[in-house]
Amino acid sequence: MPGIKDIQKSALTAIAAAANEAELEAARVEFLGKKSALSELMKTLGKMSPEERQEKGPLYNGLRAELTEAIAAKKAELHEAALNARLAEEKIDVTLPPRPMPQGTIHPITHVTDEIVAIFADMGFAVAEGPDIESDYYNFTALNFPEGHPAREMHDTFYMVPDEKGERKVLRTHTSPVQIRTMEKQKPPLRVIIPGRTYRCDSDQTHTPMFHQLEGLAVDKTTTLGELKWVLAEFCKAFFEVPEAPMRFRPSYFPFTEPSMEVDILCDRSGGNVKIGEGEDWMEILGCGMVHPNVLKFGGLDPDDYQGWAFGMGIDRLAMLKYGIPDLRDFFAADLRWLKHYGFAALDMPNLATGLSR
Ligand code: PHE
Repeated sequence: MPGIKDIQKSALTAIAAAANEAELEAARVEFLGKKSALSELMKTLGKMSPEERQEKGPLYNGLRAELTEAIAAKKAELHEAALNARLAEEKIDVTLPPRPMPQGTIHPITHVTDEIVAIFADMGFAVAEGPDIESDYYNFTALNFPEGHPAREMHDTFYMVPDEKGERKVLRTHTSPVQIRTMEKQKPPLRVIIPGRTYRCDSDQTHTPMFHQLEGLAVDKTTTLGELKWVLAEFCKAFFEVPEAPMRFRPSYFPFTEPSMEVDILCDRSGGNVKIGEGEDWMEILGCGMVHPNVLKFGGLDPDDYQGWAFGMGIDRLAMLKYGIPDLRDFFAADLRWLKHYGFAALDMPNLATGLSR
């Protein structure tokens, strides 16, 4: 029978040499299992004299403990090595470009919003934003819709459940509340555009409960209607990429502008799709006017010192017109085939230098 020193030496060598958990388990069975040399030695303890047992017992048990510990340590080491190997193998570099080439596209509304922002940025407008969930004050009161005024019924408003204080928030029905928020934050001269989501309880072929608007606001000491007309004319030519875009201003009513107008653009509906800037039809594209003195007051400005103009237009409608998209509801249908057809390449940021819709 091998001596205890021999067992220790060959066991520790085998444990150290184990290349994986299976080999380690084999070593454990060989050196600590029931049939191992050490177990055989342990069995002899019973037949020993008490003195001899006193001497050998601690030696055998000590070796058993030593080997058990060595196996546990080796097991932990193998486990960690296996984990590191797996991590190294499964490593992905998230900065690598995707293969095959990108499948996703930029939604036409995002793209058209970028186009519009590029045009107005070129004219010196900054972009402002506000919350989709708005207080009644910003959405109506501060825009000169008095409490209980019938004009509030013009918008089919989505109301939120009232909070503890009884305040009933709304999903903003237009981007105009951001006019007030902007006047509160910045002092004139002001020149901002405000793209964003808007909501009305309305749904059919030409209306969706969520849609997109673009607001424009300019406030200064001598801001005039003539400037508004020029800015809108420049915008229409640039956006529709036509040399002339004749417009028609019709009197209208909004509580927050005085005078108020709706603007139509010349178009030709005779062919299969609408052509802008030619023909003899008119199409309404936006509402505008001079900022009402009460609105300036709500915004913290003295109407005796300042005046301004504002406009609001539907981004979705502009996108449909420019890119020949027939049904508004498709914008929100999340149909991949539709998105592939009407979407834009991810890196194709609109800019005026290279042409917007290139
Ligand atoms: N907020 C108006 C609407 O949603 C549009 C508008 C904006 C009109 C600014 C005049 C001035 O219909």
